[in-house]
Amino acid sequence: MITEIAVVDGPLFEEIAVSAWPQALSLSRPDLLRAQALVGGEWRSAAEQFLVLDPADGSTIAAVADCDAAMALAAVEAASAAFVAWRETTAAARAAILRRWFDLVRANAEDLARLVSREQGKPLAEARGEVAYGAGYLEWFAEEARRAYGDLIPSPVRGRELKVVKEPVGVTAVITPWNFPVAMIARKIAPALAAGCTVVAKPAAETPLSALALCALAQEAGVPPGVINLVPTRRAAEISQVWMDDSRVRKLSFTGSTAVGKTLARQSADTLKRLSLELGGDAPLIVFDDADLEVALDGLMKAKFRNGGQACVAANRIYLQDAIYEPFVARLVDAVAALTVGPAGEGPRDIGPLIHDAAANAMERLVQDALAKGARVLTGGQRHPLGGAFFQPTVLTDVSPDMDLCHQEIFGPIVALGRFSDEDQAVDLANDTPFGLAAYIFSTDARRTHRVAARLDVGIVGINEGAVSTEVAPFGGVKESGYGREGSRYGLADYQNIKYVCVGGLD
Ligand code: SIN
Repeated sequence: MITEIAVVDGPLFEEIAVSAWPQALSLSRPDLLRAQALVGGEWRSAAEQFLVLDPADGSTIAAVADCDAAMALAAVEAASAAFVAWRETTAAARAAILRRWFDLVRANAEDLARLVSREQGKPLAEARGEVAYGAGYLEWFAEEARRAYGDLIPSPVRGRELKVVKEPVGVTAVITPWNFPVAMIARKIAPALAAGCTVVAKPAAETPLSALALCALAQEAGVPPGVINLVPTRRAAEISQVWMDDSRVRKLSFTGSTAVGKTLARQSADTLKRLSLELGGDAPLIVFDDADLEVALDGLMKAKFRNGGQACVAANRIYLQDAIYEPFVARLVDAVAALTVGPAGEGPRDIGPLIHDAAANAMERLVQDALAKGARVLTGGQRHPLGGAFFQPTVLTDVSPDMDLCHQEIFGPIVALGRFSDEDQAVDLANDTPFGLAAYIFSTDARRTHRVAARLDVGIVGINEGAVSTEVAPFGGVKESGYGREGSRYGLADYQNIKYVCVGGLD
């Protein structure tokens, strides 16, 4: 679950020493710290600002333009005007611009990572990984832009040619979450531009700075004015309403909670927009008794603790087969207890703060509910001594399906352990959820992993692997985890319309 809006109150914009921000962030390119909206190729101020806070201590990082409905409309106008020329730009030229953008992101990766780490809270090493992951989408879609092939269909009638051509869908609204603020926006904007679409985008209110820096680099790479418009705001509902109502916006790509995704789908119904919805996950992770326990442990730690558990593909429900339950849990508890927790910027860390105090409160509630219903804490279980948004990496055993953490996304560093006796039971438990994004299976029996992968109702399966995300493979879910695919050769199709052209009189 992703909380969409941080409503932030604090000192007035004027009271903040604006000139001190880049130094505080140690950016080698201070000009990458942007605080305005990018609309029609111009950086524009808004009447009000909102504060971006460091989740480690609540201190102010920057004050950013709080865009309103009028700015959202101006963004659509700019994107709509720019679409006329951008769709006519050759695929090779679009690819070259995307490639330059990729090169610039790589050249400025350290600054981007510092921004991500500071505003999102993830450790710097992990933020560097996110920037590389996001850059991968720019590179991939620079290449895919040149492969937007159509088809020639053998005609059933002489003298006709039946052609299928791929056309850009049009102006695309992009709404992204705070957990991967660079990677998610790159994953959506890159295929949109590759296909010939123009974009109006809203980053999460908690993490607009890295998205703004990314768009400054896009401008530098030669993305023409109006092709990308970025509107930071804390008024998410106001902005998205404008975009959902406007018939010039032909597509929405959204990553966030299932609840917000459903609202956006309803709002877009009147103008029948194309939708890509990457929504909540509730990933099961199954360890069979024939698993290599070292491999399973490594996979679980990656699938659970990436970004402190704040990922849609995070392992949410862990099912261990009876025979390996005790030995596996002993190793797991040691590994979780050894995780280091602290502010992102200070030394090597495994886990930073959660996105805000409210997220740590939610962890407390989940643990209390589980304990009241019979779970036991094996390690952690409380707010971290650092306080605020820090929560201890936690392992809970004796978890049962009636507990809240078994049917809602935990989105934090809590491992919830359940057990099973046979394959059928494991599959039934895994599929017992309205969600269907990812699942993980650990076993050394190839026939078993093949069988179980086929029976799981999800869009992504990791077999003996906990890190599944990559720009070259399709990312997306089934059931209430949404629809559409991002990345891979399938990712471009979500931004293309198919046109069938029947040419007659050729004989
Ligand atoms: C997400 O949490 O929404 C994305 C995670 C990923 O790309 O791996």
